Amino acid sequence: MIIKKSKLSKFIKLPNIFDEANLVFTEGKRHLPFSIKRVYYILNMKKGSLRGFHAHKKCQQVIFCIQGRIKLVLDNGSNREEFIIKQPDQGIFLDKMIWHEMSDFVKGTILLVLASDYYKEKDYIRDYQKFLRQVRKELRDDTNE
Ligand code: TYD
Repeated sequence: MIIKKSKLSKFIKLPNIFDEANLVFTEGKRHLPFSIKRVYYILNMKKGSLRGFHAHKKCQQVIFCIQGRIKLVLDNGSNREEFIIKQPDQGIFLDKMIWHEMSDFVKGTILLVLASDYYKEKDYIRDYQKFLRQVRKELRDDTNE
């Protein structure tokens, strides 16, 4: 379920069953904008560490902070948005061709990421200037169609 939209993203809320604990689940396409091909998690981040700093050409992802808190910056080449992610049942949609930067992890933070594709290094753009060139090229191609 989409609960909040912004210019660059949307928050996806998963079912959260609370009895004596929280049980959060997802059933792929029922709850997410894609079928899940890959799941990964990130934990034990060193104090002050930075992650992300890339965009994906095709892969889409939803990022959950299932414990702790992070700052996430999204950038589509024209706009930048900053989010604080801390709700284990609310993921942020990370579309293709969105540059993202993660920082300000609190101790004990655990991120869970659901992805639409297998890991392919070729899908990454790790250079910000290259990302801007690619975004502008795609915009030009769209307007010429
Ligand atoms: P990367 O995606 O750059 O991490 P982050 O976005 O958190 O900064 O990945 C870090 C390393 O892990 C890189 O060498 C690629 C590897 N990796 C895989 O092998 N499989 C995966 O599914 C992911 C996400 C990363």
